[in-house]
Amino acid sequence: MKIAILGGTGEQGPGLALRWARAGEEVIIGSRQKEKGEKVAAELNEELGKALLRGTDNVSAAAAAAVAVLTVPYSAHVSTLETVKQQLKGKIFVAVSVPLDPENARRVIMPTAGSAAEEARQVLGPDVQVVGALQNVSAHLLRNVHAAIDCDVLVCGGDKDARATVMQLIERLGIHALDAGPLEAARQIEPITALLIRLNILNKVHSAGIRITGLPEK
Ligand SMILES: NC(=O)c1ccc[n+]([C@@H]2O[C@H](COP(=O)([O-])OP(=O)(O)OC[C@H]3O[C@@H](n4cnc5c(N)ncnc54)[C@H](OP(=O)(O)O)[C@@H]3O)[C@@H](O)[C@H]2O)c1
Repeated sequence: MKIAILGGTGEQGPGLALRWARAGEEVIIGSRQKEKGEKVAAELNEELGKALLRGTDNVSAAAAAAVAVLTVPYSAHVSTLETVKQQLKGKIFVAVSVPLDPENARRVIMPTAGSAAEEARQVLGPDVQVVGALQNVSAHLLRNVHAAIDCDVLVCGGDKDARATVMQLIERLGIHALDAGPLEAARQIEPITALLIRLNILNKVHSAGIRITGLPEK
């Protein structure tokens, strides 16, 4: 599957890119600047020992992919979506952004849409299947591609097939995915990240995650 990681040049994007590339998925790193996307892809390819990734600008990456993941700071979430709206029509969009309070990352300021994922659906419209996922996984853990990730990823979205596709992609990262139902579940999922940041600070680690228990095995 061709996956675009828009804003894939920062903290969260490279770990996802490396893990998906190692699992055999075709990954395109997007950036506001084509050259920066190319540079980060080249650095990650060097780490992989193979030219598995390519980099380009966000618009070209969105146009080329079947699934687009957006990993930009929440402050740039809506403005970046506006730039790739046309290219995402008929595709799956994975919303990762968390609306953290810029003054205190232990808190969120939820948008009027309800969550960042629902805000993405408002911007992108009905022709894009918006799925919320990966908001609660630490960039630090993702980046250490040889380490197992002991947490769950909650996946929510209005379309069952789109959710199933994203859950399969999460499993390809080596992470257990759980179906959390409709997109409005993002209202509960996104604030968990602020709690995890609080726990990381209290415990002086970068690795806090969540595990849901008591559900039947699927
Ligand atoms: N970091 C984590 O551990 C973590 C965990 C869970 C969820 N998340 C979520 O993942 C998202 C990305 O987090 P991150 O830590 O990867 O962010 P980041 O490193 O600060 O930024 C990622 C990329 O976003 C682009 N960007 C920065 N400012 C921008 C702007 N004003 N307009 C457009 N693009 C801009 C940059 O790419 P270019 O310069 O190449 O365009 C940058 O490399 C956030 O929404 C966060 O809530 C992060």
